[in-house]
Amino acid sequence: MTKPVTPPLVVRVREASPDDMASVQAIYAYYVARTAASFEEEVPEVAEMERRRAEVVRRGLPYLVAEEAGEVLGFTYAGPWRPRSAYRYTVEDSIYVAPFVQGRGVGRALLGTLIESCAEAGYRRMVAVIGDSANQASIALHRSLGFRQEGVLRGVGLKFGRWVDVVIMHRGLGDDSRPLPDGGSAPPLPRDEDIA
Ligand SMILES: CC(C)(COP(=O)(O)OP(=O)(O)OC[C@H]1O[C@@H](n2cnc3c(N)ncnc32)[C@H](O)[C@@H]1OP(=O)(O)O)[C@@H](O)C(=O)NCCC(=O)NCCS
Repeated sequence: MTKPVTPPLVVRVREASPDDMASVQAIYAYYVARTAASFEEEVPEVAEMERRRAEVVRRGLPYLVAEEAGEVLGFTYAGPWRPRSAYRYTVEDSIYVAPFVQGRGVGRALLGTLIESCAEAGYRRMVAVIGDSANQASIALHRSLGFRQEGVLRGVGLKFGRWVDVVIMHRGLGDDSRPLPDGGSAPPLPRDEDIA
């Protein structure tokens, strides 16, 4: 018997609203409670997820959901990669797709839109900090959208009694002629071939 083929899902990617956050929290709760994809260990409540969404939006960064037939099937957002000011044009993505629709193109639709949105806003780099070097789905998704693996930090997390790696990947965003998000200008980014 041949394996059934699961067709890709056609989803609408749009900005998240406060009303979406119960669905977003349910998706995220699954991965916090059962996997090392997130290094959080306590499931945050809906109000906390909404507080986080509002903070992303306050910074002018995108917080998106993928919807099909009125159901939220995944979410993604960009946040500052690190707090020190010189990092201000580099963002970090986060992305979670409902477990029952994994592998059907929802992650690709979400992350592709997030990348476009951050590039349009003038950000220069996007970093992925992937929980668990066994997370093949996330590594494949990021690689497929132009991220390059930069390194693996071995055993930097302890979850479920196991030391967990982090895989660092990153990519450039857009071209050098775009104004920065605050309207300023910057020299060209080093090209990948210039980075040893
Ligand atoms: C990682 C995740 C967001 C990917 O989203 P998805 O909807 O499942 O992935 P897609 O169907 O869009 O697939 C994107 C690409 O990854 C590949 N891929 C997806 N799952 C894969 C797997 N388990 N193994 C290998 N490759 C995989 C697909 O073949 C596709 O490649 P292509 O674009 O070259 O055809 C999703 O699986 C998820 O939420 N995982 C759990 C939470 C998580 O790990 N989040 C990321 C935290 S860093």
